[in-house]
Amino acid sequence: MSVEQAAAALRGAQQVVVLSGAGMSAESGVPTFREAQSGLWEEFDPSRLATPEAWQADPPFVWAWYAWRVGLVRDVEPNDGHRALAALARTHDVTIVTQNVDDLHERAGSEVLAHIHGSLFEYRCGDCGVRYDAPVEVPSEPVERLDPPTCQACAGDVRPGVVWFGEDLPMDDFQASVEALESLTKGDVCLVVGTSGIVYPAAGMPAIARGAGATVVEINPHESDISDMCDIVVRGSAATTLPALVAALG
Ligand code: OAD
Repeated sequence: MSVEQAAAALRGAQQVVVLSGAGMSAESGVPTFREAQSGLWEEFDPSRLATPEAWQADPPFVWAWYAWRVGLVRDVEPNDGHRALAALARTHDVTIVTQNVDDLHERAGSEVLAHIHGSLFEYRCGDCGVRYDAPVEVPSEPVERLDPPTCQACAGDVRPGVVWFGEDLPMDDFQASVEALESLTKGDVCLVVGTSGIVYPAAGMPAIARGAGATVVEINPHESDISDMCDIVVRGSAATTLPALVAALG
């Protein structure tokens, strides 16, 4: 299916909810979760590092991985896909719900309603949960172990403010996302960009949009677990397809 079909759907839409996943940031140089990792982390599966069990077993090891990812994201730029979504907000009511823990939508000029898997740039105590606002050291070279900062309230280890496998999503972000999807009506569009549709409950969100009567449009170079339930599928990358889509709107 073509960009033109997706553009036709957008032309008739009042509201657009964007659901973005790791593929959204791939062309900025942030590896997706299903890609092999690079360098020091090559042999480690993210689905085993991003767990409460990994953290309990070895906080400095997990903290070092996140410190590397913070440095990586700081050093990259939003891509043309992020910028196209920011531009789309000039003509449409756009709500962004992202699974990404980076800040590339915001840096491209978009407002993000919800980071349903948390953020790389927010930290809290792993023991007492108090927010940690002091600056965090990011080593210039990846290291295999790095002591996490110490909580100022209880001296526990400070952890990344991201959602790990098996953890609940942040309730406010999740509820705001569901409300945005439920408020879509016939003719509105849900744009699903760069997600494999494997990890729930995020993977169930396009179905909420569909249930509300919206047209679900997938942008992904590869088939995903949600491709079958999408009304329009555009096989292309985020950084090429989204600018083409916005240009096609005229
Ligand atoms: P995945 O890494 O599972 O999937 C990335 C998706 O992006 C795949 O469907 C790719 O085909 C697609 N993709 C790759 N390059 C792309 C490009 N240039 N443009 C558009 N799409 C592209 O990432 P997510 O679906 O976001 O959760 O993963 C979901 C969650 O699993 C993550 O948020 C994270 C992860 O483990 C937690 O950490 C809880």
